[in-house]
Amino acid sequence: MAPEAPLIRAFVAVPVPEDIRRKLGVVCTETLGDLTHLRPVNARNIHVTLKFLGEIGRDALHAVERALHAVAGRHTAFDLRVEGVRTLPTRGDPRVVFADLLGPVDRLALLARDIEDVAAQAGIAREDRPFTAHLTLARIKSPKQLGLLRKRIETVATQSFGVLPVREIVLYRSELDPAGARYTAVGGAALRDR
Ligand code: 2AM
Repeated sequence: MAPEAPLIRAFVAVPVPEDIRRKLGVVCTETLGDLTHLRPVNARNIHVTLKFLGEIGRDALHAVERALHAVAGRHTAFDLRVEGVRTLPTRGDPRVVFADLLGPVDRLALLARDIEDVAAQAGIAREDRPFTAHLTLARIKSPKQLGLLRKRIETVATQSFGVLPVREIVLYRSELDPAGARYTAVGGAALRDR
């Protein structure tokens, strides 16, 4: 029997310019700091997830890669602002610290829905939660230090981090490693010019 083809962990995202990632990185390392129950994201990995594809085969990956060009042709480029730091979900114990996106986020949601549809056509499960525009900064492993965490978040709760140009959608391969996830762009397409 032929060996099973390895699965590829992949997602589609909007890349974030380095200057914004650098500022958010300061929040991750200095503001949120060294709380035991918090796992900050490495600044180089900060992105806006549009669709987590999960562990998929090469054929599905290629199908999504091709479909992204068609999706990109249906949306024009726009700008968002990265502003504010909050936690998700809003009810119950928070699990994620994130930077918020302001501006025409409805256009980002439409883009995410379009990608959700083409991914479903490639056989990839639909997300059961509604799309929320966000930039993950840290994952909360336990609610044990929530009081301290909230105090730290308060100091950056309304901070502006700059303008995020939404110009392209990128297909990333994700490789998990104890030293941190490694993301590699394996495809993508530019949105239409305004
Ligand atoms: P998020 O951090 O923007 O919420 C790459 O792994 C990205 O895919 C992560 O940054 C995360 O998006 C999203 N992701 C990872 N695992 C996921 C899962 N099991 N379900 C949904 N999204 C996931």
